[in-house]
Amino acid sequence: MNPLFNLEELDRKTAVDTIGLTGKNILSVDQFDTELISKIFDRAREMRAMVNTVGGVDLLKGRVLAALFYEPSTRTSSSFIAAMERLGGSVIPITQGVKFSSVSKGETLADTVRTLEQYADAIVLRHPQVGAANLAGDYAHIPVLNAGDGAGEHPTQALLDLFTIREELGTLNGLKVAMIGDLKNGRTVHSLTKLLLHYNVSLRFVSPEILRMPLKIMNKVIDAGVNIRETHDVADVIENADVLYVTRVQKERFGDLAQYEEVKDHYVITSELIERAKEKMIIMHPLPRVGEIHYAVDNDPRAAYFRQVKNGMYIRMALLAAVLGEA
Ligand code: NCD
Repeated sequence: MNPLFNLEELDRKTAVDTIGLTGKNILSVDQFDTELISKIFDRAREMRAMVNTVGGVDLLKGRVLAALFYEPSTRTSSSFIAAMERLGGSVIPITQGVKFSSVSKGETLADTVRTLEQYADAIVLRHPQVGAANLAGDYAHIPVLNAGDGAGEHPTQALLDLFTIREELGTLNGLKVAMIGDLKNGRTVHSLTKLLLHYNVSLRFVSPEILRMPLKIMNKVIDAGVNIRETHDVADVIENADVLYVTRVQKERFGDLAQYEEVKDHYVITSELIERAKEKMIIMHPLPRVGEIHYAVDNDPRAAYFRQVKNGMYIRMALLAAVLGEA
């Protein structure tokens, strides 16, 4: 691919759709193959180099992103905002969507989307219902990016997770990836699992019985012929894992809070536990954490979760530039 920026002169190259995402929605990781992923990663590395040298450019000057969040968010919303701003664009932040917009008056998602597209060039949407982003995509005439649809998918998170693994460990092949916690309701592990099936990995799913990975995704894993084992016990995976991907038990998805109370503290990653892990491995978490990883672990060089946060901005910069036709 031709570079987007000439870092010495910072001239913008003529806009070309080399990634092939111009005008497209980003709804599911099913859209991505290894070739597309590697192009996005190359762009994300360029974004990182650009941010580290000059902080920002005018690539998306005059472009507007509507950030519509019907569920709480810290990282996803602020990284999309930062990504847009570092590329010279701007944002309509409806990050408290339900409370302060006409959504609270009963406006439908379809009407909200058809309104926002009058002002904006792309919409990023987080919503509690599975399939909400697809519905928004059906109505909108501008790109819709799925920032999490209930317990469904979280494709931009999965790309930044995969990018983090690649950048931290130097490869995506030959790795043992262990996912721990709420594999039933965690949309990040659903999307990441599907992306990892493109590579030569072994998967280990660690969860309480009631929070096992959904059958639909298990079937995809089995069809892909990937080496997979499920267990309830983190002790079974700690010594061999190259990636320990820890998740929060998704309280908001439980109908019965007594059931949540039973499983919420099931797994806690401590310094003692990771003493048994490999010297070269990483601990990841999409965050927020609510006790699954002790603070003492943060000082371990293998704790990658805040570096993972930063990668989110580079990946979202790459994706925004791509869907807005500037990459
Ligand atoms: C996750 C989410 O919202 O799915 N957070 C994120 O986007 N980084 C994970 C979670 O809420 O547990």
